[in-house]
Amino acid sequence: MTEKPTGLRRKLTDYGDPGFSLFLRKAFAKSMGYTEAELDRPVIGIANTGSGLVSCHGTVPALIEAVERGVTAAGGLPLTFPTISLGEPFMHPTTMLFRNLMAMDTEEMIRAHPIDAVVLIGGCDKTVPAQLMAAASAGVPAIQLVTGPMLTGSHKGERLGACTDCRRYWGAHRGGRVDEGEIAEVGGRLMPSAGTCMVMGTASTMACAAEALGMMLPGSAAIPAVLADRQRVARESGARAVALAAEGLVPERILTPGAFTNALTVLLAVGGSTNAVIHLAAVAGRCGFDLDLGRLDRLSRETPVLVDLKPSGQHYMEDLNKAGGLMPVLRALADRLDLDCLTVTGRTLGEEIAAAPAPWPQDVVRERDDPIYREGGIAVLRGNLAPDGAIIKQSAATPALCQHTGRAVVFDSVADLTARVDDPALDVAPEDVLVLRNAGPKGAPGMPEAGYIPIPRKLATQGVTDMVRLSDARMSGTAFGTIVLHATPEAAIGGPLALVENGDSITLDVEGRTLTLDVPQATLDARRAAWQPPPPPVSAERGYLALHLAHVEQADRGCDLNFLTAPRSGQAVPVL
Ligand code: FES
Repeated sequence: MTEKPTGLRRKLTDYGDPGFSLFLRKAFAKSMGYTEAELDRPVIGIANTGSGLVSCHGTVPALIEAVERGVTAAGGLPLTFPTISLGEPFMHPTTMLFRNLMAMDTEEMIRAHPIDAVVLIGGCDKTVPAQLMAAASAGVPAIQLVTGPMLTGSHKGERLGACTDCRRYWGAHRGGRVDEGEIAEVGGRLMPSAGTCMVMGTASTMACAAEALGMMLPGSAAIPAVLADRQRVARESGARAVALAAEGLVPERILTPGAFTNALTVLLAVGGSTNAVIHLAAVAGRCGFDLDLGRLDRLSRETPVLVDLKPSGQHYMEDLNKAGGLMPVLRALADRLDLDCLTVTGRTLGEEIAAAPAPWPQDVVRERDDPIYREGGIAVLRGNLAPDGAIIKQSAATPALCQHTGRAVVFDSVADLTARVDDPALDVAPEDVLVLRNAGPKGAPGMPEAGYIPIPRKLATQGVTDMVRLSDARMSGTAFGTIVLHATPEAAIGGPLALVENGDSITLDVEGRTLTLDVPQATLDARRAAWQPPPPPVSAERGYLALHLAHVEQADRGCDLNFLTAPRSGQAVPVL
Protein backbone atom coordinates (compact mmCIF):
# COMPACT_ATOMS: atom_id res chain seq x y z
CA MET A 1 0.00 0.00 0.00
CA THR A 2 1.40 3.44 -0.90
CA GLU A 3 1.60 5.79 2.05
CA LYS A 4 -0.43 8.99 1.87
CA PRO A 5 1.89 11.94 1.23
CA THR A 6 2.28 14.38 4.12
CA GLY A 7 3.71 17.87 4.58
CA LEU A 8 4.97 19.64 1.50
CA ARG A 9 4.43 16.46 -0.56
CA ARG A 10 0.67 16.98 -0.32
CA LYS A 11 -1.46 19.03 -2.67
CA LEU A 12 1.21 19.63 -5.26
CA THR A 13 0.78 22.39 -7.78
CA ASP A 14 -0.41 20.88 -11.07
CA TYR A 15 2.32 21.08 -13.70
CA GLY A 16 1.84 17.53 -14.96
CA ASP A 17 5.15 16.49 -13.31
CA PRO A 18 4.84 15.84 -9.54
CA GLY A 19 8.60 15.49 -9.07
CA PHE A 20 9.17 18.93 -10.52
CA SER A 21 6.30 20.37 -8.45
CA LEU A 22 7.89 19.16 -5.22
CA PHE A 23 11.39 20.24 -6.29
CA LEU A 24 10.10 23.72 -7.14
CA ARG A 25 8.01 24.01 -3.97
CA LYS A 26 10.95 23.10 -1.75
CA ALA A 27 13.26 25.42 -3.66
CA PHE A 28 10.89 28.31 -3.05
CA ALA A 29 10.42 27.27 0.59
CA LYS A 30 14.20 27.29 1.01
CA SER A 31 14.20 30.93 -0.06
CA MET A 32 12.49 31.55 3.31
CA GLY A 33 15.49 30.02 5.07
CA TYR A 34 14.13 26.56 5.86
CA THR A 35 16.41 23.48 5.85
CA GLU A 36 15.64 20.24 4.03
CA ALA A 37 14.97 18.54 7.39
CA GLU A 38 12.44 21.21 8.39
CA LEU A 39 10.68 20.85 5.07
CA ASP A 40 10.17 17.15 5.75
CA ARG A 41 8.10 17.86 8.86
CA PRO A 42 4.28 17.81 8.97
CA VAL A 43 2.93 21.22 8.01
CA ILE A 44 0.74 22.94 10.59
CA GLY A 45 -1.15 25.87 9.13
CA ILE A 46 -1.93 28.78 11.43
CA ALA A 47 -4.81 31.01 10.33
CA ASN A 48 -3.79 34.59 11.01
CA THR A 49 -6.76 36.86 11.59
CA GLY A 50 -4.74 39.74 12.99
CA SER A 51 -5.89 43.03 11.48
CA GLY A 52 -5.73 46.71 12.22
CA LEU A 53 -9.48 46.64 11.64
CA VAL A 54 -10.21 43.98 14.29
CA SER A 55 -9.47 45.40 17.72
CA CYS A 56 -10.46 42.13 19.40
CA HIS A 57 -7.54 40.39 17.66
CA GLY A 58 -4.78 42.69 18.92
CA THR A 59 -2.93 39.77 20.54
CA VAL A 60 -2.93 37.55 17.45
CA PRO A 61 0.76 38.19 16.59
CA ALA A 62 1.81 37.01 20.06
CA LEU A 63 -0.52 34.02 19.85
CA ILE A 64 0.95 33.03 16.49
CA GLU A 65 4.42 33.11 18.01
CA ALA A 66 3.26 30.87 20.86
CA VAL A 67 1.53 28.43 18.49
CA GLU A 68 4.68 28.32 16.36
CA ARG A 69 6.76 27.44 19.42
CA GLY A 70 4.40 24.59 20.25
CA VAL A 71 4.39 23.27 16.69
CA THR A 72 8.18 23.39 16.37
CA ALA A 73 8.75 21.76 19.76
CA ALA A 74 6.41 18.92 18.74
CA GLY A 75 8.26 18.33 15.47
CA GLY A 76 5.99 20.18 13.04
CA LEU A 77 6.61 22.98 10.56
CA PRO A 78 4.40 25.99 11.43
CA LEU A 79 3.32 27.98 8.38
CA THR A 80 1.11 31.00 9.02
CA PHE A 81 -1.33 32.23 6.40
CA PRO A 82 -3.68 35.22 6.38
CA THR A 83 -7.43 35.04 6.03
CA ILE A 84 -10.18 37.60 6.01
CA SER A 85 -10.91 38.89 9.49
CA LEU A 86 -14.15 40.46 10.69
CA GLY A 87 -14.27 43.14 13.37
CA GLU A 88 -17.76 43.64 14.72
CA PRO A 89 -17.87 47.45 15.13
CA PHE A 90 -15.75 48.17 12.06
CA MET A 91 -17.77 46.77 9.16
CA HIS A 92 -20.67 48.07 7.11
CA PRO A 93 -23.45 47.05 7.01
CA THR A 94 -22.66 44.14 9.36
CA THR A 95 -20.01 41.44 9.80
CA MET A 96 -22.74 38.83 9.37
CA LEU A 97 -22.86 39.64 5.66
CA PHE A 98 -19.25 38.47 5.43
CA ARG A 99 -19.21 35.46 7.79
CA ASN A 100 -19.79 33.05 4.92
CA LEU A 101 -17.12 34.78 2.82
CA MET A 102 -14.63 34.28 5.66
CA ALA A 103 -15.71 30.65 5.96
CA MET A 104 -15.14 30.14 2.22
CA ASP A 105 -11.79 31.90 2.33
CA THR A 106 -10.60 29.85 5.32
CA GLU A 107 -11.85 26.55 3.91
CA GLU A 108 -10.23 27.11 0.52
CA MET A 109 -6.93 28.21 2.08
CA ILE A 110 -6.84 25.01 4.14
CA ARG A 111 -7.94 22.86 1.23
CA ALA A 112 -5.54 24.28 -1.36
CA HIS A 113 -2.36 24.21 0.73
CA PRO A 114 -0.21 21.30 1.91
CA ILE A 115 -1.57 21.60 5.43
CA ASP A 116 -1.64 18.45 7.62
CA ALA A 117 -3.48 20.18 10.47
CA VAL A 118 -4.53 23.73 11.17
CA VAL A 119 -4.76 26.02 14.19
CA LEU A 120 -7.56 28.52 13.68
CA ILE A 121 -7.08 31.72 15.64
CA GLY A 122 -10.33 33.62 15.94
CA GLY A 123 -12.14 35.63 18.54
CA CYS A 124 -14.48 38.40 17.42
CA ASP A 125 -18.09 37.32 16.96
CA LYS A 126 -18.24 35.99 13.39
CA THR A 127 -14.68 34.75 13.13
CA VAL A 128 -15.03 31.62 15.26
CA PRO A 129 -18.27 30.50 13.53
CA ALA A 130 -16.65 31.10 10.14
CA GLN A 131 -13.60 29.07 11.15
CA LEU A 132 -15.68 26.22 12.58
CA MET A 133 -17.76 26.14 9.37
CA ALA A 134 -14.54 26.04 7.35
CA ALA A 135 -13.07 23.31 9.54
CA ALA A 136 -16.22 21.22 9.22
CA SER A 137 -16.05 21.43 5.42
CA ALA A 138 -12.29 21.24 4.78
CA GLY A 139 -11.74 17.71 6.09
CA VAL A 140 -8.35 18.49 7.66
CA PRO A 141 -7.57 18.09 11.40
CA ALA A 142 -8.25 21.46 13.03
CA ILE A 143 -8.04 23.02 16.44
CA GLN A 144 -9.75 26.26 17.43
CA LEU A 145 -7.89 28.84 19.48
CA VAL A 146 -9.59 32.06 20.59
CA THR A 147 -7.95 35.37 21.42
CA GLY A 148 -9.83 35.41 24.74
CA PRO A 149 -11.87 38.06 26.53
CA MET A 150 -10.76 41.54 27.62
CA LEU A 151 -10.25 42.44 31.26
CA THR A 152 -12.94 44.64 32.82
CA GLY A 153 -12.72 48.40 33.21
CA SER A 154 -14.10 50.67 35.88
CA HIS A 155 -15.86 54.01 36.15
CA LYS A 156 -16.55 55.81 39.42
CA GLY A 157 -15.91 52.60 41.31
CA GLU A 158 -18.25 50.53 39.15
CA ARG A 159 -16.93 47.62 37.06
CA LEU A 160 -17.60 47.99 33.35
CA GLY A 161 -17.53 45.61 30.43
CA ALA A 162 -18.22 45.51 26.71
CA CYS A 163 -20.75 45.69 25.60
CA THR A 164 -23.61 45.22 28.03
CA ASP A 165 -22.45 48.30 29.92
CA CYS A 166 -21.87 50.20 26.65
CA ARG A 167 -25.55 49.74 25.91
CA ARG A 168 -26.66 50.50 29.45
CA TYR A 169 -24.71 53.77 29.54
CA TRP A 170 -25.79 54.73 26.04
CA GLY A 171 -29.43 54.09 27.00
CA ALA A 172 -28.96 56.36 30.03
CA HIS A 173 -27.34 58.98 27.77
CA ARG A 174 -30.28 58.83 25.34
CA GLY A 175 -32.60 59.20 28.31
CA GLY A 176 -30.71 62.33 29.45
CA ARG A 177 -29.34 60.74 32.64
CA VAL A 178 -25.68 60.71 31.50
CA ASP A 179 -24.26 63.88 29.92
CA GLU A 180 -21.87 64.29 26.95
CA GLY A 181 -18.79 64.59 29.17
CA GLU A 182 -19.50 61.44 31.15
CA ILE A 183 -20.43 59.30 28.14
CA ALA A 184 -17.10 60.25 26.51
CA GLU A 185 -15.29 59.32 29.73
CA VAL A 186 -17.10 55.96 29.88
CA GLY A 187 -16.16 55.33 26.23
CA GLY A 188 -12.51 55.39 27.29
CA ARG A 189 -13.02 52.95 30.15
CA LEU A 190 -15.23 50.20 28.79
CA MET A 191 -12.45 48.27 27.06
CA PRO A 192 -9.21 48.54 28.98
CA SER A 193 -7.27 45.70 27.32
CA ALA A 194 -6.96 43.70 24.13
CA GLY A 195 -9.40 40.83 23.63
CA THR A 196 -13.02 40.08 22.89
CA CYS A 197 -16.10 41.45 24.66
CA MET A 198 -15.90 40.19 28.24
CA VAL A 199 -19.59 39.53 28.92
CA MET A 200 -21.45 36.46 27.63
CA GLY A 201 -21.83 38.03 24.19
CA THR A 202 -21.42 36.17 20.93
CA ALA A 203 -17.62 35.91 21.11
CA SER A 204 -17.67 34.41 24.63
CA THR A 205 -20.61 32.19 23.74
CA MET A 206 -18.92 30.83 20.63
CA ALA A 207 -15.73 30.24 22.61
CA CYS A 208 -17.74 28.19 25.12
CA ALA A 209 -19.57 26.43 22.26
CA ALA A 210 -16.28 25.58 20.53
CA GLU A 211 -14.98 24.04 23.76
CA ALA A 212 -18.24 22.13 24.30
CA LEU A 213 -18.11 20.90 20.69
CA GLY A 214 -14.69 19.46 21.44
CA MET A 215 -12.92 21.66 18.89
CA MET A 216 -10.84 23.63 21.40
CA LEU A 217 -8.53 22.59 24.24
CA PRO A 218 -10.53 21.99 27.44
CA GLY A 219 -10.42 24.82 29.95
CA SER A 220 -9.44 27.44 27.40
CA ALA A 221 -12.68 29.29 26.54
CA ALA A 222 -12.61 31.91 29.30
CA ILE A 223 -8.90 32.69 29.72
CA PRO A 224 -8.47 36.46 29.25
CA ALA A 225 -6.54 37.60 26.19
CA VAL A 226 -3.72 39.25 28.10
CA LEU A 227 -2.91 36.50 30.62
CA ALA A 228 0.15 34.29 30.28
CA ASP A 229 -2.18 31.28 30.43
CA ARG A 230 -3.58 32.35 27.05
CA GLN A 231 -0.06 32.13 25.58
CA ARG A 232 0.41 28.71 27.14
CA VAL A 233 -2.87 27.45 25.64
CA ALA A 234 -1.71 28.76 22.26
CA ARG A 235 1.56 26.85 22.61
CA GLU A 236 -0.30 23.71 23.65
CA SER A 237 -2.72 24.09 20.73
CA GLY A 238 0.24 24.18 18.35
CA ALA A 239 1.77 21.07 19.90
CA ARG A 240 -1.55 19.27 19.87
CA ALA A 241 -2.08 20.14 16.19
CA VAL A 242 1.06 18.14 15.34
CA ALA A 243 -0.39 15.11 17.13
CA LEU A 244 -3.78 15.66 15.46
CA ALA A 245 -2.06 15.53 12.07
CA ALA A 246 -0.41 12.22 12.95
CA GLU A 247 -3.65 10.78 14.31
CA GLY A 248 -5.72 12.03 11.37
CA LEU A 249 -8.42 13.14 13.80
CA VAL A 250 -10.60 15.19 11.44
CA PRO A 251 -13.43 17.52 12.59
CA GLU A 252 -15.96 15.13 11.08
CA ARG A 253 -15.21 12.67 13.92
CA ILE A 254 -15.60 15.38 16.56
CA LEU A 255 -18.59 17.28 15.18
CA THR A 256 -21.20 14.58 15.77
CA PRO A 257 -24.88 15.17 16.62
CA GLY A 258 -23.97 14.55 20.27
CA ALA A 259 -21.32 17.27 20.13
CA PHE A 260 -23.89 19.76 18.84
CA THR A 261 -26.29 18.75 21.59
CA ASN A 262 -23.49 19.43 24.08
CA ALA A 263 -22.80 22.84 22.54
CA LEU A 264 -26.49 23.79 22.53
CA THR A 265 -26.90 22.66 26.15
CA VAL A 266 -23.93 24.80 27.12
CA LEU A 267 -25.28 27.73 25.11
CA LEU A 268 -28.51 27.56 27.11
CA ALA A 269 -26.78 27.11 30.47
CA VAL A 270 -24.35 29.99 30.04
CA GLY A 271 -27.17 32.38 29.06
CA GLY A 272 -25.40 32.66 25.72
CA SER A 273 -25.97 34.83 22.69
CA THR A 274 -28.97 34.31 20.43
CA ASN A 275 -26.53 34.61 17.51
CA ALA A 276 -25.00 31.29 18.50
CA VAL A 277 -28.24 29.54 17.48
CA ILE A 278 -27.67 30.74 13.92
CA HIS A 279 -23.96 29.95 13.98
CA LEU A 280 -24.39 26.46 15.41
CA ALA A 281 -27.12 25.79 12.83
CA ALA A 282 -24.61 26.80 10.14
CA VAL A 283 -21.80 24.59 11.48
CA ALA A 284 -24.27 21.70 11.88
CA GLY A 285 -25.43 22.29 8.30
CA ARG A 286 -21.81 21.87 7.16
CA CYS A 287 -21.92 18.42 8.80
CA GLY A 288 -25.29 17.50 7.25
CA PHE A 289 -27.42 18.01 10.39
CA ASP A 290 -30.46 20.26 10.76
CA LEU A 291 -30.88 22.33 13.90
CA ASP A 292 -34.40 21.59 15.10
CA LEU A 293 -35.76 24.68 16.87
CA GLY A 294 -38.59 22.69 18.48
CA ARG A 295 -36.08 20.33 20.09
CA LEU A 296 -33.91 23.26 21.08
CA ASP A 297 -36.87 24.73 22.92
CA ARG A 298 -37.52 21.43 24.70
CA LEU A 299 -33.87 21.35 25.70
CA SER A 300 -34.23 24.92 26.93
CA ARG A 301 -37.19 24.00 29.15
CA GLU A 302 -34.93 21.47 30.92
CA THR A 303 -31.62 23.36 31.02
CA PRO A 304 -31.30 26.14 33.60
CA VAL A 305 -28.99 29.14 33.22
CA LEU A 306 -26.14 28.42 35.63
CA VAL A 307 -23.61 31.10 34.78
CA ASP A 308 -24.00 34.44 36.51
CA LEU A 309 -22.56 36.62 33.73
CA LYS A 310 -23.84 39.76 32.06
CA PRO A 311 -26.15 40.31 30.26
CA SER A 312 -28.21 37.65 32.10
CA GLY A 313 -26.35 38.02 35.43
CA GLN A 314 -23.65 40.08 37.11
CA HIS A 315 -20.12 38.81 36.46
CA TYR A 316 -17.64 38.93 33.58
CA MET A 317 -15.53 36.38 31.70
CA GLU A 318 -12.44 36.90 33.85
CA ASP A 319 -14.59 35.86 36.83
CA LEU A 320 -15.70 32.74 34.97
CA ASN A 321 -12.04 31.97 34.28
CA LYS A 322 -11.18 32.34 37.98
CA ALA A 323 -14.10 30.03 38.79
CA GLY A 324 -12.57 27.30 36.60
CA GLY A 325 -13.76 28.33 33.14
CA LEU A 326 -16.31 26.17 31.43
CA MET A 327 -15.42 23.05 33.44
CA PRO A 328 -17.79 23.73 36.41
CA VAL A 329 -20.59 24.22 33.88
CA LEU A 330 -19.77 20.97 32.09
CA ARG A 331 -19.52 19.17 35.43
CA ALA A 332 -22.89 20.51 36.60
CA LEU A 333 -24.48 19.42 33.33
CA ALA A 334 -22.63 16.11 33.00
CA ASP A 335 -25.75 13.93 33.17
CA ARG A 336 -27.25 15.95 30.29
CA LEU A 337 -24.19 15.78 28.02
CA ASP A 338 -22.99 13.15 25.58
CA LEU A 339 -19.79 12.29 27.41
CA ASP A 340 -18.61 9.89 24.71
CA CYS A 341 -17.99 12.70 22.22
CA LEU A 342 -14.37 12.94 21.11
CA THR A 343 -12.48 16.20 21.58
CA VAL A 344 -9.36 17.57 19.88
CA THR A 345 -7.31 16.07 22.70
CA GLY A 346 -8.16 12.61 21.39
CA ARG A 347 -9.96 11.93 24.67
CA THR A 348 -13.71 12.06 25.23
CA LEU A 349 -15.55 14.92 26.91
CA GLY A 350 -16.28 12.59 29.83
CA GLU A 351 -12.57 11.81 30.22
CA GLU A 352 -11.74 15.52 30.15
CA ILE A 353 -14.31 16.31 32.83
CA ALA A 354 -12.97 13.46 34.99
CA ALA A 355 -9.38 14.70 34.54
CA ALA A 356 -10.17 18.36 35.34
CA PRO A 357 -9.03 19.87 38.66
CA ALA A 358 -11.42 19.36 41.58
CA PRO A 359 -13.97 22.19 41.96
CA TRP A 360 -13.49 24.97 44.50
CA PRO A 361 -15.99 27.34 46.14
CA GLN A 362 -17.01 30.15 43.79
CA ASP A 363 -20.09 32.25 43.05
CA VAL A 364 -20.08 32.49 39.25
CA VAL A 365 -21.33 29.05 38.21
CA ARG A 366 -24.39 27.99 40.18
CA GLU A 367 -25.55 24.48 41.02
CA ARG A 368 -28.53 23.06 39.14
CA ASP A 369 -30.82 23.50 42.16
CA ASP A 370 -29.89 27.19 42.51
CA PRO A 371 -29.90 28.56 38.95
CA ILE A 372 -29.80 32.14 37.71
CA TYR A 373 -32.83 31.35 35.58
CA ARG A 374 -34.87 28.17 35.83
CA GLU A 375 -34.91 27.50 32.08
CA GLY A 376 -32.34 27.93 29.31
CA GLY A 377 -31.49 31.48 28.29
CA ILE A 378 -33.18 31.19 24.91
CA ALA A 379 -36.81 30.37 24.13
CA VAL A 380 -38.16 29.51 20.68
CA LEU A 381 -41.45 31.15 19.70
CA ARG A 382 -43.89 30.14 16.98
CA GLY A 383 -47.11 31.60 15.66
CA ASN A 384 -48.59 33.32 12.67
CA LEU A 385 -45.81 35.94 12.83
CA ALA A 386 -43.00 33.38 12.72
CA PRO A 387 -44.12 30.05 11.23
CA ASP A 388 -40.50 28.86 11.02
CA GLY A 389 -39.61 30.24 14.43
CA ALA A 390 -38.35 33.30 16.25
CA ILE A 391 -36.25 33.46 19.38
CA ILE A 392 -36.02 35.53 22.53
CA LYS A 393 -33.30 35.69 25.16
CA GLN A 394 -35.73 35.22 28.00
CA SER A 395 -33.04 35.36 30.68
CA ALA A 396 -32.23 38.95 29.67
CA ALA A 397 -35.87 40.06 29.18
CA THR A 398 -38.11 42.01 31.55
CA PRO A 399 -40.33 39.37 33.22
CA ALA A 400 -43.38 41.67 33.25
CA LEU A 401 -43.19 42.07 29.46
CA CYS A 402 -42.86 38.36 28.66
CA GLN A 403 -46.66 38.10 28.54
CA HIS A 404 -47.77 41.21 26.70
CA THR A 405 -50.22 42.50 24.12
CA GLY A 406 -49.52 45.80 22.44
CA ARG A 407 -50.12 47.95 19.41
CA ALA A 408 -47.61 47.59 16.57
CA VAL A 409 -45.41 50.55 15.66
CA VAL A 410 -43.79 49.48 12.40
CA PHE A 411 -40.46 50.47 10.89
CA ASP A 412 -40.00 49.30 7.30
CA SER A 413 -36.23 49.04 7.28
CA VAL A 414 -33.14 49.88 9.30
CA ALA A 415 -32.96 53.20 7.42
CA ASP A 416 -36.61 53.95 8.30
CA LEU A 417 -35.88 53.11 11.95
CA THR A 418 -32.87 55.41 11.99
CA ALA A 419 -34.86 58.23 10.39
CA ARG A 420 -37.96 58.07 12.60
CA VAL A 421 -37.34 56.42 15.96
CA ASP A 422 -36.44 59.68 17.68
CA ASP A 423 -38.98 61.82 15.84
CA PRO A 424 -40.95 63.69 18.52
CA ALA A 425 -44.04 63.21 16.33
CA LEU A 426 -43.75 59.40 16.37
CA ASP A 427 -47.02 57.90 17.63
CA VAL A 428 -45.65 55.55 20.27
CA ALA A 429 -46.41 54.62 23.87
CA PRO A 430 -44.48 52.45 26.38
CA GLU A 431 -46.91 49.53 26.01
CA ASP A 432 -46.59 49.42 22.20
CA VAL A 433 -44.63 46.73 20.32
CA LEU A 434 -41.84 48.12 18.17
CA VAL A 435 -41.58 46.18 14.89
CA LEU A 436 -38.60 46.30 12.54
CA ARG A 437 -38.80 44.41 9.24
CA ASN A 438 -36.73 43.89 6.09
CA ALA A 439 -33.70 43.45 8.34
CA GLY A 440 -33.17 39.71 7.76
CA PRO A 441 -30.53 37.76 5.82
CA LYS A 442 -31.74 39.06 2.43
CA GLY A 443 -33.64 42.14 3.49
CA ALA A 444 -31.00 44.31 5.12
CA PRO A 445 -28.95 42.49 3.66
CA GLY A 446 -26.86 40.40 6.03
CA MET A 447 -29.21 40.38 9.04
CA PRO A 448 -27.58 43.17 11.08
CA GLU A 449 -27.78 43.44 14.85
CA ALA A 450 -30.53 46.02 14.54
CA GLY A 451 -33.00 43.94 16.58
CA TYR A 452 -31.96 45.86 19.68
CA ILE A 453 -34.31 48.63 18.54
CA PRO A 454 -33.55 51.77 20.56
CA ILE A 455 -36.27 52.98 22.90
CA PRO A 456 -37.70 56.09 21.14
CA ARG A 457 -36.04 59.12 22.72
CA LYS A 458 -39.36 60.64 23.79
CA LEU A 459 -40.02 57.52 25.90
CA ALA A 460 -36.41 57.04 27.03
CA THR A 461 -36.41 60.54 28.50
CA GLN A 462 -39.54 59.59 30.48
CA GLY A 463 -37.58 56.73 32.04
CA VAL A 464 -38.78 53.85 29.82
CA THR A 465 -35.93 51.31 29.65
CA ASP A 466 -37.57 48.32 27.96
CA MET A 467 -40.39 47.62 25.51
CA VAL A 468 -41.39 44.54 23.52
CA ARG A 469 -39.43 44.71 20.30
CA LEU A 470 -39.76 42.37 17.34
CA SER A 471 -37.82 41.95 14.11
CA ASP A 472 -36.31 39.61 11.54
CA ALA A 473 -32.90 40.99 12.50
CA ARG A 474 -30.36 39.72 15.05
CA MET A 475 -29.06 41.47 18.13
CA SER A 476 -25.70 41.58 19.81
CA GLY A 477 -25.16 38.87 22.37
CA THR A 478 -24.24 41.59 24.82
CA ALA A 479 -27.67 43.24 24.54
CA PHE A 480 -30.66 42.81 26.81
CA GLY A 481 -34.39 43.55 26.85
CA THR A 482 -37.67 41.94 25.80
CA ILE A 483 -36.56 41.48 22.24
CA VAL A 484 -37.90 38.92 19.77
CA LEU A 485 -35.45 38.16 16.98
CA HIS A 486 -34.94 36.10 13.82
CA ALA A 487 -38.66 36.06 12.86
CA THR A 488 -38.57 33.49 10.08
CA PRO A 489 -39.28 33.61 7.18
CA GLU A 490 -38.07 37.19 6.96
CA ALA A 491 -40.24 40.02 5.64
CA ALA A 492 -38.17 40.60 2.49
CA ILE A 493 -39.20 37.21 1.09
CA GLY A 494 -42.82 37.64 2.12
CA GLY A 495 -42.68 36.40 5.72
CA PRO A 496 -45.67 37.44 7.83
CA LEU A 497 -43.80 40.36 9.38
CA ALA A 498 -44.29 42.01 5.97
CA LEU A 499 -48.06 42.09 6.58
CA VAL A 500 -48.08 43.94 9.92
CA GLU A 501 -49.59 47.44 9.88
CA ASN A 502 -49.29 50.23 12.42
CA GLY A 503 -51.91 49.77 15.11
CA ASP A 504 -52.29 45.98 14.70
CA SER A 505 -52.38 44.06 17.95
CA ILE A 506 -49.46 41.71 18.67
CA THR A 507 -49.33 39.22 21.54
CA LEU A 508 -46.12 37.84 22.99
CA ASP A 509 -46.42 34.87 25.33
CA VAL A 510 -42.97 33.57 26.25
CA GLU A 511 -44.27 30.94 28.65
CA GLY A 512 -46.67 29.65 25.98
CA ARG A 513 -43.93 30.12 23.33
CA THR A 514 -46.21 32.02 20.97
CA LEU A 515 -45.99 35.19 18.95
CA THR A 516 -49.28 36.20 17.41
CA LEU A 517 -50.53 38.90 15.09
CA ASP A 518 -54.11 39.36 16.29
CA VAL A 519 -55.55 40.06 12.86
CA PRO A 520 -58.18 37.91 11.07
CA GLN A 521 -56.78 35.53 8.43
CA ALA A 522 -59.00 37.05 5.71
CA THR A 523 -57.43 40.47 6.34
CA LEU A 524 -53.96 38.94 6.22
CA ASP A 525 -54.82 37.18 2.94
CA ALA A 526 -55.93 40.49 1.43
CA ARG A 527 -52.74 42.19 2.60
CA ARG A 528 -50.64 39.35 1.14
CA ALA A 529 -52.37 39.69 -2.24
CA ALA A 530 -51.39 43.37 -2.30
CA TRP A 531 -47.82 42.85 -0.97
CA GLN A 532 -44.84 43.85 -3.11
CA PRO A 533 -41.29 42.76 -2.24
CA PRO A 534 -38.96 45.62 -1.29
CA PRO A 535 -36.55 46.78 -4.00
CA PRO A 536 -33.17 44.99 -3.92
CA PRO A 537 -30.34 46.91 -2.26
CA VAL A 538 -28.15 49.14 -4.38
CA SER A 539 -25.18 47.38 -6.07
CA ALA A 540 -26.75 43.95 -5.63
CA GLU A 541 -26.03 42.98 -9.24
CA ARG A 542 -22.38 42.05 -8.83
CA GLY A 543 -19.74 40.68 -6.54
CA TYR A 544 -20.15 38.97 -3.21
CA LEU A 545 -23.41 40.75 -2.41
CA ALA A 546 -25.01 39.24 -5.52
CA LEU A 547 -23.78 35.79 -4.45
CA HIS A 548 -25.11 36.33 -0.93
CA LEU A 549 -28.54 37.47 -2.11
CA ALA A 550 -28.89 34.60 -4.55
CA HIS A 551 -27.90 31.87 -2.11
CA VAL A 552 -28.30 32.88 1.53
CA GLU A 553 -30.56 30.64 3.61
CA GLN A 554 -32.95 31.70 6.34
CA ALA A 555 -32.03 32.00 10.02
CA ASP A 556 -33.33 28.55 10.97
CA ARG A 557 -30.81 27.07 8.50
CA GLY A 558 -27.93 29.17 9.85
CA CYS A 559 -27.87 31.82 7.09
CA ASP A 560 -25.25 29.81 5.22
CA LEU A 561 -24.98 29.92 1.44
CA ASN A 562 -26.97 27.00 0.11
CA PHE A 563 -24.12 25.63 -2.03
CA LEU A 564 -21.76 25.38 0.96
CA THR A 565 -23.84 23.12 3.17
CA ALA A 566 -23.44 19.35 3.25
CA PRO A 567 -26.17 17.06 1.94
CA ARG A 568 -28.54 16.58 4.86
CA SER A 569 -28.19 13.20 6.57
CA GLY A 570 -31.71 13.34 8.02
CA GLN A 571 -30.27 13.69 11.54
CA ALA A 572 -31.37 16.65 13.63
CA VAL A 573 -29.67 18.38 16.53
CA PRO A 574 -30.07 18.62 19.43
CA VAL A 575 -30.46 14.89 19.85
CA LEU A 576 -33.26 14.21 22.32
FE1 FES B 1 -15.25 41.78 18.88
FE2 FES B 1 -17.22 42.13 20.78
S1 FES B 1 -16.61 43.46 19.17
S2 FES B 1 -15.95 40.44 20.40
